[in-house]
Amino acid sequence: MNNFLDINKTSPGDLRRIIDDARAMKDARKDAPKGMPDAEQPLAGRMVALIFEKPSTRTRVSFDVGVRQMGGQTLVLSGSEMQLGHGETIADTARVMSRYVDLIMIRTFEEQTLLEMAEHATVPVINGLTNRTHPCQIMADVMTFEEHRGPIRGRKVVWSGDGNNVFASFAHAAGQFGFDLTFTGPETLDPEQVFLDEARAKGVNVTIERDPAKAVQGADLVVTDTWVSMHDPVSARERRHNQLRGYQVNEALMSQAKPDALFMHCLPAHRDDEATSAVMDGPHSVIFDEAENRLHAQKAIMRWCLGV
Ligand code: CP
Repeated sequence: MNNFLDINKTSPGDLRRIIDDARAMKDARKDAPKGMPDAEQPLAGRMVALIFEKPSTRTRVSFDVGVRQMGGQTLVLSGSEMQLGHGETIADTARVMSRYVDLIMIRTFEEQTLLEMAEHATVPVINGLTNRTHPCQIMADVMTFEEHRGPIRGRKVVWSGDGNNVFASFAHAAGQFGFDLTFTGPETLDPEQVFLDEARAKGVNVTIERDPAKAVQGADLVVTDTWVSMHDPVSARERRHNQLRGYQVNEALMSQAKPDALFMHCLPAHRDDEATSAVMDGPHSVIFDEAENRLHAQKAIMRWCLGV
């Protein structure tokens, strides 16, 4: 039994196996209707709980569809409707859920909730996003980069904007997959130092460059995310927009990157804030491939967790 809690907690060999498995499963059902079961049914007889304490479109739908394609069944649960939102401990919830389901995916606020769920559950637990990290998203992003441009090892990835939870998982991935990572954004929104230090300790080049035009020089991939994340207070919106306006990914910025650079955004996006529609819908953009690959990457993650 394997938990998928973060990219830095999964070995590089297992991460590579997951990506390869995801690509093989995607190829195997090319052009099949979305509701068509996979030829192999590794989750037959398995029940999967999908717990959401925060809103979701991609994570919710891609996990649900992925389980069904592999022959399993899902329970989609909102944290506020469970006793989880009304004082029952995470440990007790984990023990009880483990008597009903074979796998738990949870999207939650505090990382500690995820860790307690994993500590006390007797079935695998998958991180569907916390305030600190978003590993399933970055597995899909690595898969997407490699589909378009080959191995990500040794490439240069530039993150423009807020040093948030999605950036943190990119930093984990830089160390595990071996690519260089540059953060460009205002100092007040720098990522936690621990994420940068950990990647550097694994031998990759991780830098901070305040000037976005300099940062994207030589970039193979430019990434951004919403300027106001789900866990940020609404009152911070105006201040964040003022801080981040200079880090918008637009055609002028993309023209400073390599000519064949890709553009990614995990979505949902606020068009013409963090990235212009011209970039999101332009020739560098692979944002909808990223969204699709959530499905394939997570199917491979679930198989790895269950060893099936
Ligand atoms: N990118 C992502 O996790 O999307 P959702 O919030 O819609 O799940």
